[in-house]
Amino acid sequence: MKPHITTLALTLMFSTFSLAAERYDTGALRTVQKHCTSCHGTPFFQAKQIDDSDWKFFFNTEGELEKIHKDKPEALANLASPSFKQKKKRILKFFIENSMYSGSVNGCDGNFCGTNH
Ligand code: HEC
Repeated sequence: MKPHITTLALTLMFSTFSLAAERYDTGALRTVQKHCTSCHGTPFFQAKQIDDSDWKFFFNTEGELEKIHKDKPEALANLASPSFKQKKKRILKFFIENSMYSGSVNGCDGNFCGTNH
């Protein structure tokens, strides 16, 4: 009986973990918080401003993000930073998954709660 309960408990634990892990990419969220939030609001709010094809356009068109921020030296510096460049693909995925028509609504958790920055 005992090992059975342990197995059940472990299975439940793992399924809870993997569910939580799939909600969104916390690494991408933190990088966006660091580099974009001061102007664009929380990462989830920012993601909702445009739809998935717009996100693809801005991220996949060479020089487009730089062009749109050409009068914003702070934004240009953040776009050029190694941490943004390194996570760029993950950040695009994060924005797409939470974009305008994605239907995703994020609850309150340790990284994000309503309007906190
Ligand atoms: C210093 C302030 C500032 C920072 C930091 C900043 N942006 Fe912006 N961003 C702006 C402004 C202002 C606009 C609007 C420009 C326009 O509409 O002509 C804009 C526009 C955009 C747009 C075009 C779509 C839209 O919502 O208007 C995208 C995409 C974007 N920013 C992404 C980013 C990302 C990703 C980061 C973080 C790496 C970032 N921005 C950091 C100020 C900033």
